[in-house]
Amino acid sequence: MLKYTTRIDNALGHEWIETELTGKQLLVTPLLNKGTAFTQEERHALKLLGKLPHRVETLQEQLDRAKNQYNRYTSTMQKYIYLNNLHDKNEILFYNLLLDNLHETLPLIYTPGVSAAVKRFSHEFRQPRGLYIAYPDRDKIDEILDNRTHEEIELLVATDGERILGIGDQGIGGMDIPVAKLVVYSLCGINPYRTIPIMLDVGTNNPELLNDPLYLGWRHARIAGKEYDDFIERFVNAVKVKFPNCMIHWEDFAQQNARRILETYRLQHCSFNDDMQGTAVVTLAALLAAIKASNLAIKDQKIVVFGAGTAGLGIADLLFNAMLHAGIAEADARRQFWLVDRHGILVDGMKDLNLFQQPYVRNASEVKAWSTDKRDLEAVVNQVHPTILIGCSTVRGAFNEAVVRAMAANTIQPIICPLSNPNENCEGDPQDLITWTDGKALIATGSPFPPVEYKGKMFTITQCNNALSFPGIGLGVIATKATEVTDNMLWAATQAISERAPILQDLTKPLLPAVTDIPELATYVGHAVAAQAIKDGVARVKPNMDFATFVKEQTWKPYYRAIRKVKV
Ligand code: NAI
Repeated sequence: MLKYTTRIDNALGHEWIETELTGKQLLVTPLLNKGTAFTQEERHALKLLGKLPHRVETLQEQLDRAKNQYNRYTSTMQKYIYLNNLHDKNEILFYNLLLDNLHETLPLIYTPGVSAAVKRFSHEFRQPRGLYIAYPDRDKIDEILDNRTHEEIELLVATDGERILGIGDQGIGGMDIPVAKLVVYSLCGINPYRTIPIMLDVGTNNPELLNDPLYLGWRHARIAGKEYDDFIERFVNAVKVKFPNCMIHWEDFAQQNARRILETYRLQHCSFNDDMQGTAVVTLAALLAAIKASNLAIKDQKIVVFGAGTAGLGIADLLFNAMLHAGIAEADARRQFWLVDRHGILVDGMKDLNLFQQPYVRNASEVKAWSTDKRDLEAVVNQVHPTILIGCSTVRGAFNEAVVRAMAANTIQPIICPLSNPNENCEGDPQDLITWTDGKALIATGSPFPPVEYKGKMFTITQCNNALSFPGIGLGVIATKATEVTDNMLWAATQAISERAPILQDLTKPLLPAVTDIPELATYVGHAVAAQAIKDGVARVKPNMDFATFVKEQTWKPYYRAIRKVKV
């Protein structure tokens, strides 16, 4: 484990790091390495003399050079690799480079850019990061966790790589996603010294990967059923002992596992599933902003969810809860939802309905009374006259002209959210949606789309980017060492984000803040989440100062701390 301690002199207000590492070891430790910014005193004390070019540089000078190097790369993959190499060499410089140009670097390092890297993981592999727990090592989970780099862990992002960003089973390549999520967390103030990405390698069912001679994961069909559940249980049990205060962020698990895992462990150990809860929070924040802008009360909104999987149901659940928060009776709220999956609208008596879809199924007799025998999306839209249409199906172009025009015919300001990622899986192109609704649609997408010009007006397309939600939730949880992420905390996050909706100031503006605002937004959201954790009685730590200062004090900033040698 890495030997260092962060010390803070509260009186003087400065922070330094004590470590027993010296010389080359320091230069290859990305969270301690300052490269040419090591001062002469540090070079002397830390056995670095002569190991670096003579001139001592400032972080800004290093940043100028890094920007020049980065800008010389032209392809997305080259830029991604450059950023990752920097991440592996000097994290402070890496975070500064990202922050300096978030608009360009965030979509590269996170979605949608990271999906290309996931696919190329075994081919582009250079340096490991985090921990890999392969199923054959299931008896050695404790030993693997002890091999972590940092002692204290507050946040762990784990994936099994089965359902990556709408590109399916990516096996070991899925590891790029927890790494990317943690980068975003740290951009927003979560201390990277206290986080860890973990790959739960339970095999892959992707034949291309299984047949790829360079594939780096466990070359085996995915384990399933009891074996899988036992493996997850062993993992959680080990985490509970090693990191009792950490939050487990479950990332990109397949639908059948994601919800079960969250429901099983949510009350046992602080757990958060970004695909379900993070997506739901950010999407609901956009929807609440759209609902306010549309001037139609939430109780009158009719919601069609196309793609009744993990994300779709997560969003339906939160919208349902938002209705309850607005004082609508449970049965009345349920009646406002229609779920459509690959076999059409979900009705009672259908085969293969899962437990989570059940509360939303419609009465078969109600659908039988329709004026058509069809049960597909177009038929549903024509019969139901939805005001909100959400797409989580990965079916490109499903929101076609007939569907969208039918929706626009019966709604003054249709709210249309094709959320599937990446763009090639998106249910509708915003340009078309705007054209077919004559500029009336309030749109939010999953991946970024360029602005759309229509009849001389520019429309900024809102991206429901989870980066707007999960960092703030994480900050609030970590600041209070919450034992649980309660529904109220998610609701608090939702409201905090939607309060910051630019459309509330100006109708031509987007439904959500820009991703470039995430560091500041996360502090605001973290504040709301932490306050709610305390109200809900799940906080293990309470502030002894005003709340905003409390959350701010917990946030990490990427600047060089002085490094001092400690005697062993
Ligand atoms: P999932 O696999 O759990 O659900 C997809 C659902 O779509 C399944 O129920 C499937 O049966 C259904 N489906 C497939 N083909 C269909 C068809 N032809 N017609 C109707 N339904 C069909 O996947 P998950 O996790 O719900 O993700 C879905 C999409 O949502 C992905 O593209 C993912 O990237 C996106 N998503 C977006 C997020 C965001 O930030 N906006 C975050 C999380 C997910």
